[in-house]
Amino acid sequence: MADHDLNQRALVDALDEPALVIEGLTISVANPAARDLLGQAIEGRDIRLAIRQPELLEHVLSGHPGDLDVAGIGDFGRPWRVAVRALDLGTVFVRLIDRSDNLSAEKMRVDFVANASHELRTPLSAVLGYAETLADDPHLPADTIASFGRTVRDEAGRMLRIVEDLMSLSRIEADRFVAPEEMVDLRTVAKDAIANASTMRGSKKCEIVVEAPKKLPKVRGDRGQLVQLFDNLVSNALRYGCDKPGACVEVKLRAAGSRVEVSVIDHGPGIPRDHLPRVTERFYRVDEARSRESGGTGLGLAIVKHIVERHRGALAIDSKVGIGTIVTVTLPTAVNS
Ligand SMILES: Nc1ncnc2c1ncn2[C@@H]1O[C@H](COP(=O)(O)OP(=O)(O)O)[C@@H](O)[C@H]1O
Ligand SMILES: [Mg+2]
Repeated sequence: MADHDLNQRALVDALDEPALVIEGLTISVANPAARDLLGQAIEGRDIRLAIRQPELLEHVLSGHPGDLDVAGIGDFGRPWRVAVRALDLGTVFVRLIDRSDNLSAEKMRVDFVANASHELRTPLSAVLGYAETLADDPHLPADTIASFGRTVRDEAGRMLRIVEDLMSLSRIEADRFVAPEEMVDLRTVAKDAIANASTMRGSKKCEIVVEAPKKLPKVRGDRGQLVQLFDNLVSNALRYGCDKPGACVEVKLRAAGSRVEVSVIDHGPGIPRDHLPRVTERFYRVDEARSRESGGTGLGLAIVKHIVERHRGALAIDSKVGIGTIVTVTLPTAVNS
């Protein structure tokens, strides 16, 4: 065997994705991934016998370099991109690239745009409807005008909150690989968030109890984002977990090794098991009407999840129907804090 054959095999074998070298009509090299996909005995065989997928076979036989997207190779219905490149006269190099991840990311993007448009269109239609009535009918009684005006204001406010949350999400995502640099004391962050939440508490007489040790290690973080994280968790606890008389929301901070653990605890209705894995998805709500009534955008926990990811932390949601919900965020402490 010539040296270059050896190098060629070593290179093809080193690839994680299925790869083949085809000389004329014979498969001269097939790496382990290609053998797993197309059959263990394909090396040395005629491609017309080894490759059953007609489009793929035609693409390879054509001998023209190029890419082709195909499905139906191997046992699973995975989508593949087949890249054919000429190596030498009559010799081609074929690589199969698994496209499942790309396609599901693409589908998520399409769904997200559709959902966001839908979420914005609903309040926008209401604003337009009421504004048209106000503009077209000069004889409306004063209390009707006032009531329509309030609806327009509320619906426009909802749109603004959705747009602000969407902008937050995209900023957090854009900074995903930028490590946060501030040294943040989570006790002061908790205080700020609770002060913010108190303004939204309105008529609800729900106490917020904070439990934190005097000395808590600082975390390396983005202070603004961490305030937002606390804000979202505390406002969920107030919004969904404070109906019972005498109910309180607890915010607990504690050091745990090289991490700080934050728990926001409520004694509300809880989140049914089936919904739990989905509540961090954008626009996912367990009770749509309730979320809307209380001014929710359906983006709060998605924002929390992204902030936690950016901080290399962990998020756990533990909930029992009829008992309550505990959301725990664990963040790495800053070295030398
Ligand atoms: N503490 C909680 N108790 C019960 N349900 C909750 C709680 N936190 C979140 N949820 C549920 O998860 C959904 C998603 O939460 P979130 O992303 O913050 O959106 P929203 O804007 O609706 O609050 C909420 O609509 C609600 O159904
Ligand atoms: Mg929320």
